[in-house]
Amino acid sequence: MHARGGAVFIQLMHAGRMSHPDNTPHHRQPVAPSAISADQEIFTPSGPQKAPTPRQLRAEDIQATVADFRLAAASAIAAGADGVEIHGANGYLLHQFLSPNANHRTDAYGGSMENRSRFVIELAQALAEEIGADRVGIRLSPAMPLGGIDEGDTGSVRAQYRHLVGELAKLNLAYLHLHHMGDDELLRSLRDIWPTAVLVVRYGRTREQIADDVESGLADVAPLGRFALANPDVVERLRSNAPLNEVDPSTLYGGGAAGYTDYPALAHA
Ligand SMILES: Cc1cc2nc3c(=O)[nH]c(=O)nc-3n(C[C@H](O)[C@H](O)[C@H](O)COP(=O)(O)O)c2cc1C
Repeated sequence: MHARGGAVFIQLMHAGRMSHPDNTPHHRQPVAPSAISADQEIFTPSGPQKAPTPRQLRAEDIQATVADFRLAAASAIAAGADGVEIHGANGYLLHQFLSPNANHRTDAYGGSMENRSRFVIELAQALAEEIGADRVGIRLSPAMPLGGIDEGDTGSVRAQYRHLVGELAKLNLAYLHLHHMGDDELLRSLRDIWPTAVLVVRYGRTREQIADDVESGLADVAPLGRFALANPDVVERLRSNAPLNEVDPSTLYGGGAAGYTDYPALAHA
C-alpha cells in the first residue's frame, strides 16, 4: 500500500458487550461498562447467537483496557501502519460508555455526560502519548442505534458529543471520522470546533452522492466502505466513471480471501 502511495490507519476495536464466549480464545464472558445485555444477535463461528449479559468492568479493568489499546497502537506502528483509528462508533465498547442506556456506572466513568465521556478521552490521550497525536484518528457515530444503543433525545446527543468532541479537539488528533445520522446541525457544530481533518460517512450513498459532504464544506474527506471493499482500484474507477463491482453480501464477515482480496480490478485494454 505504501508503494502505491497509500497511507494505512488500522482501526482498533473492542466489542465490549457485542461479543460472545465463542468469539474469543479464552471463552470468557464479554465485558462492558455495566452488566446490561445488548439484547441483540451477533455473528459467531456457528452462526448468529444472542450476545450474553456482560460482566461490568472494574476500575482496574478499565486501566488494563487502556494499556491493551496502547500495546495494540504501538504494535500497529511497529507493523508498518501510519496510524490507528479508535473505534468509538457503532455500538461497541466506547459507544457503550457514551450511552446512558448501556452505562449505569456510579463511579468516575458514568452518571453524567462528562463521566460517560471520560473513558474515550483518556483512551485518546493515552494513544496520542504512545504513538503521537498525528497518528491517531477517532470514529464516532452520534445517535447510531446499532448494538441496542439509545443515546436519548436530540438535545442529549448534541450535549454529549459537543462535550466529547470539544475535549478531543484539544488533543490535535489526525482526524475525526463521523457517521452522519441526519443531524446536520450537530455535525456542523462539531466540524466548527475540530482543528484537523473531518471525514463524514453516511450509509447507502450512491456514487453520485459520495462528494456531497465535501462539496458542502461539512467534510474534508469522503470515506468509502463497500465501494472500496469491492473495488481494488476504486479511485481510478471513480475518476474515469468506470462501472463499480458490487459487494457480494454472502462473503461478508467470512474471514477468508473470498470477498476480501479477490475482487477484480479493471481490465486495461
Ligand atoms: C461488512 C461490513 C463491515 C464493517 N465493519 C466496520 C468496522 O469494523 N468498523 C467500522 O467503523 N465500520 C465498519 N463498517 C461500516 C463501514 O465503515 C461504513 O460506515 C458503512 O459501510 C457505510 O459506508 P459505505 O456505504 O461506503 O459502505 C462495516 C460495514 C460493512 C458492510
